[in-house]
Amino acid sequence: MYLRSMELTKVRRTHVLVGALATLVWINVAKDYRDYPVKTNVDHDPCCEFPCENQGVCISLKDKSYICDCTNTEHYGTNCSTPTWIGWVRKGLQPDPATLHAWLTQDLWVWRVVNAVPFLSDYAMKYIYLSRSDLIDSPVRFESDHSYTTLDAYFNETYYARTLPPTPRHCPTPMGVVGPKEYPDVDEVIQKVFLRKTFIPGPFKTNLLFQYYAQHFTHQFFRTNYTKGPQFTKGNGGVDASNIYGLTESHRRHIRLFKDGKLKYREVNGEHFPPLLKDVEGLDMEYPPGLPIPEESKHALGHPFYALLPGLFAYSTIWLREHNRVCDVLKEEHPHWDDERLYHTAKLIITGEIIKITVENYVQHLSQYKVNVKFRPHVVHNTRFQFHNRINVEFDHLYHWHQLVPDGITINDTYYDLMDMAFSVKPIFTHGLDTFIQALNSNRAGKMGPHNHGVVNVPVLKRMLLNSRALRFQGINSYRKRFKMSPFKSFEELTGDQELADVLRGLYGHIDAVEFYVGLFTEHDGPSVMSLTVVNMGGPWSVKGLIANPICSPQYWKPSTFGGEKGFEIVNTASLEKLFCRNMKSKCQNIDFVVPDSSL
Ligand code: HEM
Ligand SMILES: *[C@@H]1O[C@H](CO)[C@@H](O)[C@H](O)[C@H]1NC(C)=O
Ligand SMILES: *[C@@H]1O[C@H](CO)[C@@H](O)[C@H](O)[C@H]1NC(C)=O
Ligand SMILES: *[C@@H]1O[C@H](CO)[C@@H](O)[C@H](O)[C@H]1NC(C)=O
Ligand SMILES: *[C@@H]1O[C@H](CO)[C@@H](O)[C@H](O)[C@H]1NC(C)=O
Repeated sequence: MYLRSMELTKVRRTHVLVGALATLVWINVAKDYRDYPVKTNVDHDPCCEFPCENQGVCISLKDKSYICDCTNTEHYGTNCSTPTWIGWVRKGLQPDPATLHAWLTQDLWVWRVVNAVPFLSDYAMKYIYLSRSDLIDSPVRFESDHSYTTLDAYFNETYYARTLPPTPRHCPTPMGVVGPKEYPDVDEVIQKVFLRKTFIPGPFKTNLLFQYYAQHFTHQFFRTNYTKGPQFTKGNGGVDASNIYGLTESHRRHIRLFKDGKLKYREVNGEHFPPLLKDVEGLDMEYPPGLPIPEESKHALGHPFYALLPGLFAYSTIWLREHNRVCDVLKEEHPHWDDERLYHTAKLIITGEIIKITVENYVQHLSQYKVNVKFRPHVVHNTRFQFHNRINVEFDHLYHWHQLVPDGITINDTYYDLMDMAFSVKPIFTHGLDTFIQALNSNRAGKMGPHNHGVVNVPVLKRMLLNSRALRFQGINSYRKRFKMSPFKSFEELTGDQELADVLRGLYGHIDAVEFYVGLFTEHDGPSVMSLTVVNMGGPWSVKGLIANPICSPQYWKPSTFGGEKGFEIVNTASLEKLFCRNMKSKCQNIDFVVPDSSL
């Protein structure tokens, strides 16, 4: 019949936005699928069967046989499957991952004792840090362009690292020898396994403050350079706070105030916000061309991607205020320090706060461990722990958590769908930052599982799945073994759901052929926010990345690095709640990663 003009504008805006998002995702997509030159001339490679166990390394011989190199695996035999004495004892002492996980997530009296007694707590942390990081290659061995160890994996830091090398291109199937010769159709996989019909809220009452923390935190090191290819990163090897300060020196200088160490800000009704983009000449933020966004709502943030969503803008604002607050504290202690020293010292403190909050609030919620997860870097000093980290491309894929994202959000009784919020700060400036943050706090995030992927982000999922294929990821069971979990024996064991098991059987034929990401998020429910496999793989990458940060190393981890006792104290007492309460105008109630009971 007719459309009111407001609706018409909305329809048009939605179209432009979908177009903009799609272009964002599909730019240079052809590059991702270029075929790498295959120079090998192999008609049969026994290593395609991945015969070596316990991380033994397969080498094919010229007579089409193979040997497994079992060095340092504590195993021997043709396939490195027989444990040495020491290997046997160690294996016997190691609890089964599923059992250990079940203990850690149960409210046992022993955790209350551990939590209450500092030296026991430190001992538990030492065990967690070391046992987790032992699973990560350090230094790295693999990148995505070779199915064997290369020196480039270490020295060419434009590569993401790989935990398992790609399946060689000459193998009969994408997974080596099992499964179909061709991957199942990606659209069919998305439609049958991932697409959301109705929103499924997460168990454990996870809220949107958590969802946006995850995105804001991880995009400092997940920065695929799609122009170059999905195996390359623009970023650095860990928590560098580049999402707050900028990745390049040029970006960093654009948003620095060059006074008292502070970052540039704009004052609105007595509150500090990031500056407008028009006031920061020459800075590139990823606003899509062709979308009419008023100059008054374009901002200069630490990360060019963070214009995308008001939740990222909110975190950017809070961290900006925290940085400037820390600068005030430092200046009071050291009135003789110049801008440069205040800036760099505050940045070290902020990095410490990020790690502290990530470990003690974020990982605590994610894991649902009943033992308190603590940030105590000194416990690994004088151990075998290596202060070196690189980002693995499998970690980037595992962290595609778009299932958390609900289709919309209610702010003080107004509903905004995701598209209303793209590249907009309206929800913040209409209701006020504090009200917006309370809304993130009281809206539930989605469940990380099958049939819960919102349609808006399907292009992101599709591209990621296609990239994992272009990069020849090994199957979920290879990764289970790599992280010392026993491989799934059947589709039913994986999913715990007959219907989904049948769908996956139809797509993949063999359990060992199930793709990495598909396996991760079709696994049956467990006691954590994510499935057991996600926790037992994400955990090691995450712990390693957080604790291998230079600030945790013996020569950094001391008060003077952080401007003295006062700065060190800020790091050691940081929490999510303090971060928000110190930097909101009012009403910082219930700041947490779970929805308060009153709004359930
Ligand atoms: C809130 C709504 C969200 C939207 C609209 C969104 C959108 C996007 C887009 C457009 C990309 C770029 C994809 C490409 O160019 O191929 C992306 C990448 C990504 N997103 Fe999200 N996302 C959202 C939330 C999240 C959340 C909550 C997480 C959880 C941590 C997340 C994790 C990632 C990761 C890991 C990448 C890959 C980054 C890279 O490798 O450069 N996203 N997302
Ligand atoms: C080693 O693995 C191959 C391939 O999986 C298998 O056929 C063979 O029987 C195994 N050999 C031993 C000694 O276990
Ligand atoms: C890293 O490897 C890529 C792919 O081979 C190459 O294009 C790039 O020049 C290398 N970078 C450095 C710094 O060697
Ligand atoms: C991404 O890769 C392209 C193509 O190799 C290169 O020109 C560009 O500098 C890279 N971007 C960043 C930010 O590293
Ligand atoms: C919610 O909206 C009502 C009506 O517009 C307004 O009076 C109230 O102050 C708002 N509450 C908050 C917390 O912003």
